[in-house]
Amino acid sequence: MEVALSVNGQPRKVVLEPRVTLLDALRERLGLTGTKKGCDRGECGACTVLVDGERVKSCLTLAVMRQGAEVTTVEGLARGEELHPVQEAFIRHDAFQCGACTPGQIMSAVACIDEGHTGSEAEIREWMSGNLCRCAAYQNIVAAVADAAKEVRR
Ligand code: FES
Ligand code: FES
Repeated sequence: MEVALSVNGQPRKVVLEPRVTLLDALRERLGLTGTKKGCDRGECGACTVLVDGERVKSCLTLAVMRQGAEVTTVEGLARGEELHPVQEAFIRHDAFQCGACTPGQIMSAVACIDEGHTGSEAEIREWMSGNLCRCAAYQNIVAAVADAAKEVRR
């Protein structure tokens, strides 16, 4: 089947079997390896991307179900040399560790801020809870999201 998507603002077409997930289409067909595969079953959030502006675990959705959708991956957040405020905040707060969960954390943070779920640390934790960080950076990630929320809202 042919699937047409807009990926990071560019029209892309891929021919794939109906069973191919959006995650595999992005990584293996389109070469966008910024989106990570952690568990491949919806548990870790490493594969989070934005689909039509909403966060989606791309391992849980088939590419064919997203015909015509607008997909944003971590590669599409920066504007040229200028990083997205969430990317900058992650650097400022040293919120990166292993790199496997980070792209998903960043995509989820962008959506979390957009959805207005950054009223308190507890709220940020709750709305980021679909993205697992197993290496103790969680405090820094929460701080980065809170900080970026101020930037984005300005
Ligand atoms: S790889 Fe999709 S949630 Fe873990
Ligand atoms: S930074 Fe990768 S699991 Fe936390």
